[in-house]
Amino acid sequence: MASINERYAVITGATSGIGYELAKLFAKDGYKLVIVARNQTELDSKASEFYSQYQTEVVTIAKDLSINNSGFDLYDEIKAKGIQVDVLVNNAAQGQYGQFVETDIQRELEMVQLNIVTYLVLTKLFLKEMVARNSGKILQVASIGGKLPGPLTSVYHATKAFIVSHTDALVNELKDTGVTITALLPGPTDTDFFRKAGMENTTMVQEGSLSDPAKVAKDGYEALMSGDASVISGLKNKIQVGMADILPDNVAAKMVEKQMEPSDKGQ
Ligand SMILES: NC(=O)c1ccc[n+]([C@@H]2O[C@H](COP(=O)([O-])OP(=O)(O)OC[C@H]3O[C@@H](n4cnc5c(N)ncnc54)[C@H](OP(=O)(O)O)[C@@H]3O)[C@@H](O)[C@H]2O)c1
Repeated sequence: MASINERYAVITGATSGIGYELAKLFAKDGYKLVIVARNQTELDSKASEFYSQYQTEVVTIAKDLSINNSGFDLYDEIKAKGIQVDVLVNNAAQGQYGQFVETDIQRELEMVQLNIVTYLVLTKLFLKEMVARNSGKILQVASIGGKLPGPLTSVYHATKAFIVSHTDALVNELKDTGVTITALLPGPTDTDFFRKAGMENTTMVQEGSLSDPAKVAKDGYEALMSGDASVISGLKNKIQVGMADILPDNVAAKMVEKQMEPSDKGQ
């Protein structure tokens, strides 16, 4: 088994928000990093920050993971560098606000590619190696949206439901191996996500209390390291998911719809 200073964690979407906070936790614990996002300047800036703060080696790969085959290309690039991946963090994902009849189908297909297909491809390819070595960990950054109906963000919630369901099944399939997979389910968190998703003016963002991405990342990191199947970050999010489990679907959907309505404060 590689010593901690020779271990690599691959983190998609490590230049901002939850992924950035996760990257810091891995770097602090002595992992070498492969960080992936679209913007090379941001990647370079984060790589030099991680190097100067934690003396950790960082490989940057600029790639748009919403493009067909990008998961396979990323895997090939990492292999070509001779890197053995000990931890995979599938984190890069996007949302899209609006009535499904009005939203842009091309953007939604890109979201399906980014939020589902790329997660699936990277999980498959790295998991094969991990199972062969009987060692490795995968963190799937999902969302409490994966447990809730999502009026006005229907495709986003559906992509996260896919990841939650798939991860639940893999936890069982991997139970007799030395490999673990963990789903992190954050609730609304204070990152750039809402701006990109066109959700900044919703009641949830303007009037709700957003979680600290550093706290969300810490919850995910600890659950990953303990080999837990999943973690919902934050008490109020645990309560919301618990309520949705017992409420009829239409009442749970109404609850989410209210949070998604435009806020007077956001005008
Ligand atoms: N914020 C929330 O309220 C919340 C709640 C529940 C779950 N989550 C989940 O948490 C994860 C991280 O989200 P966040 O809130 O931290 O968002 P964020 O601050 O917007 O960060 C997203 C990261 O992903 C990268 N990214 C976005 N699109 C990409 C693409 N097409 N190809 C490659 N990289 C891409 C971004 O860099 P570039 O833009 O430079 O590519 C950035 O590094 C996501 O899975 C999200 O669904 C977030």
